[in-house]
Amino acid sequence: MLYNPPSPLETKVLSRRFGLPDSAAIGTYLATDGYQAFLKASKMTPAQIIDEIKASNLRGRGGAGFPTGMKWSFVPRTSPKPKYIVVNGDEGEPGTCKDRVLMENDPHSLIEGCLIAGLAVDAHAGYVYIRGEYRYLIEILEKALAEAYAKGWLGKNIQGTGFDFDLYAHTGAGSYECGEESALLESLEGKRGVPRIRPPFPAVSGAFQCPSVLNNVETFCAVPHILLGGGKAFADLGVPKAGGTKLTALSGHINRPGVYELRLGFPVRQLIEEVGGGIPNGKKLKAFIPGGSSCPILTAAECEGATMDYDSMASRKSMLGSGGVIIMDEDTSMVKVGLRLMRFYSHESCGWCIPCREGTTWLTKIMTRFYDGNGSRADIDLLGDIAKNMLGRTFCPLGDAAALPMISLVEKFRDEFEDYLKGKRREETSGRLVTV
Ligand SMILES: Cc1cc2nc3c(=O)[nH]c(=O)nc-3n(C[C@H](O)[C@H](O)[C@H](O)COP(=O)(O)O)c2cc1C
Repeated sequence: MLYNPPSPLETKVLSRRFGLPDSAAIGTYLATDGYQAFLKASKMTPAQIIDEIKASNLRGRGGAGFPTGMKWSFVPRTSPKPKYIVVNGDEGEPGTCKDRVLMENDPHSLIEGCLIAGLAVDAHAGYVYIRGEYRYLIEILEKALAEAYAKGWLGKNIQGTGFDFDLYAHTGAGSYECGEESALLESLEGKRGVPRIRPPFPAVSGAFQCPSVLNNVETFCAVPHILLGGGKAFADLGVPKAGGTKLTALSGHINRPGVYELRLGFPVRQLIEEVGGGIPNGKKLKAFIPGGSSCPILTAAECEGATMDYDSMASRKSMLGSGGVIIMDEDTSMVKVGLRLMRFYSHESCGWCIPCREGTTWLTKIMTRFYDGNGSRADIDLLGDIAKNMLGRTFCPLGDAAALPMISLVEKFRDEFEDYLKGKRREETSGRLVTV
C-alpha cells in the first residue's frame, strides 16, 4: 500500500503534492511553493519562528503528541556545543505507515522542515534516521538530498542567506526500539540501540551529547506549511488544543485501506464508513486501534461519538498515537490479537530493562499456552496483573506499549477469553463461533 486514491473528505495540506507527476523531484517542489517557507523563515528571528510553530498548535506526530514549538524552545541556543536536527523516520509501529508516503512523495518538504528547524535552534547539521526495511526510500531521499545540494538548498550559504546546513540519511537495522528517541540516538551514534535515562532530554543532550531537536517525519513536513500559511491557519484546521491535519493510516478489515490526510477531530464513524468505505461483507465493528498497536484497544461502543484527536481518545483512556488505525470486524479473535501483539513486543523488546524484557516474554508465553488451548481462568487475571506491573516501570515506553493493549484486551474482551476456555473459538476463515 503506497498511496490510495484521494478521498473527497481529505484536507490535503501535507499530501497536496501526492499524485503530481514526479512529485518527489525538486522541480515539482520548486514549482509548487517549495523552499519559499525557508526563505521566509530566513528573514525571521529564531524566536519568531518558534512562536509561529507554537501558534500552530502542532503536536508531535510520532506518538506522544508533545507540543513541537515548546520542544524547540527547550534547546539552549547559547550552548557552545553544536546543535543537531534529528528526524525520526523509523516507523516501526504495527499499523503505522504514513511517514513512508511523505518521504516517498514529498521528500523535499522534509528537507525544508529540517532547514527551518535549523534556523530556529541554530543547528547546522541534521540526520534522517530511516527504518532499515525502507530500502527503496533511502534511494528516494538520497536523490532528493543530492538535488537539494546541487540546487543550493543544502550546504554552505544556502541561497545567499548566510545559513549553512548539511543533512544526512542514516539507515536503521530493523529494530522497533530504535524508533524510541533515546535508543534512536544511541543507534545513530553507532552503539547498541537501547534507551537512555532521561533527563536530560534530547533538547539538552541529544545526538553526540549535544542539544538536538528530534521530531517525527510528519512533524517536520508540517513545518513549511505552517511558515507559509501562518500558524493560526494551521491551528484552525484542527481542534482547540491540537492544530492541523493528521495523516491517518487505515488498515485491517476495511474496504479502502490507505493513508488519508484528515483534520484533527475527524469523526471515527465517518472515518470507517465514508473514508474507508465500511467494513467488508457488511460485518460489524468489533474493535478499533486508534494510533498504532501500542494504544489501548477501543470497543465498538467506545467508538461512538469519538473523534480522531488527542482529547477524544484520552477521554476514552486510549491515545491518538501515530494515527495508525487498525479496524477489526466482529469475527476477529481477540485472543489471537493478544497473541500476535505480545509476540511482536517480546521480539522487539531490547532487553535493556527487566520489567519489559521479562514482562513481554511472560505475556507471550501465557498468551501462547492460552491460544493453544492449555490456558486457565487464572491466566486471564495473570495477563492483566503482569501487564499492570510493567506500566511506568521501564526506561522507555516500550513496556507500556505492550502492557496497555494487553490490559484493554483482558478487561474489555474478558467474555471472549472465557468463551475460549470453554472451547468456543472463532474459526480462522469464516469467523463463525464454534465449539471444539
Ligand atoms: C518503542 C517506541 C518506538 C517508537 N517509534 C517511533 C517511530 O518509529 N517514529 C517516531 O516518530 N516516533 C517513535 N516513537 C516516539 C519517539 O520516542 C518520540 O516521541 C518521537 O519521535 C518524537 O517526535 P514528535 O514529537 O515529532 O512526535 C517511539 C516510541 C517508542 C517507545
